[in-house]
Amino acid sequence: MAFFQHLLPGIALLALLSWASASAHLHPPSQHGLSINDVPWHRREHWMRVANEATYADGEPCPQAPFGSAIVNTTSDELICVAANAVGRTGDPTMHGEMTAIRACHEVLSKRGLSPPEILRAWRDFSLYTNGEPCPMCMSAIRWAGFKEIVYGTSIETIAKGGRNQIYIPSSDILAKSYSMGHMTLMLGGILANETDPFFAHQFNESAPCPAGCQRKDTPGKRVSSCQPKPEWREIIQQREPEELLDSGRAYREPSPVNTFWPWQRLS
Ligand SMILES: *[C@@H]1O[C@H](CO)[C@@H](O)[C@H](O)[C@H]1NC(C)=O
Ligand SMILES: *[C@@H]1O[C@H](CO)[C@@H](O)[C@H](O)[C@H]1NC(C)=O
Ligand SMILES: *[C@@H]1O[C@H](CO)[C@@H](O)[C@H](O)[C@H]1NC(C)=O
Repeated sequence: MAFFQHLLPGIALLALLSWASASAHLHPPSQHGLSINDVPWHRREHWMRVANEATYADGEPCPQAPFGSAIVNTTSDELICVAANAVGRTGDPTMHGEMTAIRACHEVLSKRGLSPPEILRAWRDFSLYTNGEPCPMCMSAIRWAGFKEIVYGTSIETIAKGGRNQIYIPSSDILAKSYSMGHMTLMLGGILANETDPFFAHQFNESAPCPAGCQRKDTPGKRVSSCQPKPEWREIIQQREPEELLDSGRAYREPSPVNTFWPWQRLS
């Protein structure tokens, strides 16, 4: 009996883990058209576009590391902040798009006068939209924060197949293995992947088309061509931006020492 008493929690844990890995295949990767957590589908597509286009804020439309994130209050549909990968710009290797967004939103919430305990509670109201599936570092931060939802576009697999080095641990594995935390995070993947995939397809593949506002050119001293901004890229991007998207930058027009880009400001 004593033997079984020790065994039972182990069996329960195994059952939970196998359920978690099976459930990753239960739903289609993109639950297109479903209003999950009371979020209408078109708003998910909207926020994914905001995350995707956060990368334009770096001052060029075809960066080498085109990872962008937007953090949104899930119930009120309010944008808290957006940010893009800042590793190249800062030299800080932890500044992936999601980490940069968490820091930028932390600053927004501090400026709103929230205390540290209130900020720690706030993440549970939020959805993090990111154009590329979070790496293990970012997915762990997302789980530690306790986000209500993580929504991504392009999968790690697709990014890796496009030639970029990745730590090949699917974010759903981090989600399954953080089961003991006292909060759940809903994960939706492949959202608007038709628009996020092209951002990751061109850096290592000379045959791939360039994103909007870019054209392929030879680079002096390099043996392969790369996508480079057309002189009129700002006009091209602005023509594509719905008015609402530009308005959504209100949340964080103030410049910040951490998050050095304020996309909507620079685009205007
Ligand atoms: C998120 O939105 C809900 C509904 O409007 C609101 O009650 C809550 O305070 C918001 N959370 C934060 C941290 O802004
Ligand atoms: C991508 O797919 C969505 C439907 O999920 C569609 O609304 C959108 O227009 C497509 N984008 C492009 C650039 O074709
Ligand atoms: C490179 O891009 C071309 C054109 O989009 C595509 O057909 C091909 O599959 C890509 N190669 C790889 C390895 O992804």
